[in-house]
Amino acid sequence: MRAMVYEGPGRCALTTVPDPQITDDGDVIVRVDATTICGTDLHIVAGDVPSVRRGRILGHEAVGTVEQVGSAIHTMSPGDRVLVSCISGCGVCRYCREGHYGQCLSGGGWVLGHTIDGTQADFVRVPFADTSTYRLPDGVNDEEALMLADVLPTGYEVGVLKAGVGPGDVVAVVGTGPVGLAAIMGARLFSPSHIVAIDHADLRLDAAKQFGADVVVNNAVSDPLPVVHALTDRLGADVAIEAVGRPETFELAVALGRPGAKIANIGVHGKPAAFHLEDQWIRDITVTTGLVDAYSTPTLLRLIASGQLDAARLVTHRFAFDDFDQAYEVFSHASDTGAIKVVLSA
Ligand SMILES: NC(=O)c1ccc[n+]([C@@H]2O[C@H](COP(=O)([O-])OP(=O)(O)OC[C@H]3O[C@@H](n4cnc5c(N)ncnc54)[C@H](O)[C@@H]3O)[C@@H](O)[C@H]2O)c1
Ligand SMILES: [Zn+2]
Ligand SMILES: [Zn+2]
Repeated sequence: MRAMVYEGPGRCALTTVPDPQITDDGDVIVRVDATTICGTDLHIVAGDVPSVRRGRILGHEAVGTVEQVGSAIHTMSPGDRVLVSCISGCGVCRYCREGHYGQCLSGGGWVLGHTIDGTQADFVRVPFADTSTYRLPDGVNDEEALMLADVLPTGYEVGVLKAGVGPGDVVAVVGTGPVGLAAIMGARLFSPSHIVAIDHADLRLDAAKQFGADVVVNNAVSDPLPVVHALTDRLGADVAIEAVGRPETFELAVALGRPGAKIANIGVHGKPAAFHLEDQWIRDITVTTGLVDAYSTPTLLRLIASGQLDAARLVTHRFAFDDFDQAYEVFSHASDTGAIKVVLSA
């Protein structure tokens, strides 16, 4: 089969590899109908994620058709259309029982395209498939469902829900890549009074406006703090969501919050970020962070099916599987190409 394979720092290529086989009775083999590229894949290809070994098939997001099921599978059959989530969960360990699938103790968590072969291929072996895939209703198309594999639950759970966005809140979102945009869409569901989007790329800020931000600030050009203060009687934002993963954007998110604010860090950080406890201890703030668990997937699926969440608008570019190299190229130059999510279809 065709697969996008990590070949060591700086290199990945579309390669012909053997088809995956069922190795556990809880596995299914899914024929991938649509997959996408995540910013994390770019980090892997750059060599920033050493736990990914050379030869690994990339990708942790897919929509596909069940091809083969292990003997212990009882919620799906060959021919079923399913969403393959970025998070796999055994369903029975302590963390899975508490809905923290990302922290699964029995070989789940973020494994696809990380510690086992991933979804950027004609076929993928999905472990713990009963508790890690979702049957898709007819009214939801492949592209919108694909947005549920990672970006939408990440923005919603690690951003909006952890920060407890509520009616009337002023919400600042630092970083409006796909995850920040997903956080903006999710925040809108709770009727905030303002969403202030902050990014240093104008194309991304244009997208943020379309996704529901009513105020945008290019922080390469102007300081977002006075903008947030002007909206909040100089108090600061009720909620600040960090969706970049750099020290300076985390520090900005903390600075934007009012006393009592919730600061939700979504970004994956590769370098230490300063938290000035000497200034912050007196401000009653709450800082949250975490890996997505994807427990919200069924809720988000219902919101898409009912038309309350327009997930398909995240998709800006479409490619055939054979054009994987070009898709990586376009996605990795998002500030020039305007790419948000690219979809590769079989
Ligand atoms: N916690 C989780 O479970 C989880 C899951 C998925 C992704 N993530 C992380 O979320 C973050 C966002 O993901 P994404 O796919 O949207 O990434 P992305 O790289 O596409 O978007 C980041 C955005 O931040 C902007 N940006 C960069 N530096 C900036 C700065 N100094 N000031 C303002 N804006 C700046 C960029 O222009 C871009 O629009 C990443 O760190 C990613 O690894 C976390
Ligand atoms: Zn991802
Ligand atoms: Zn588990």
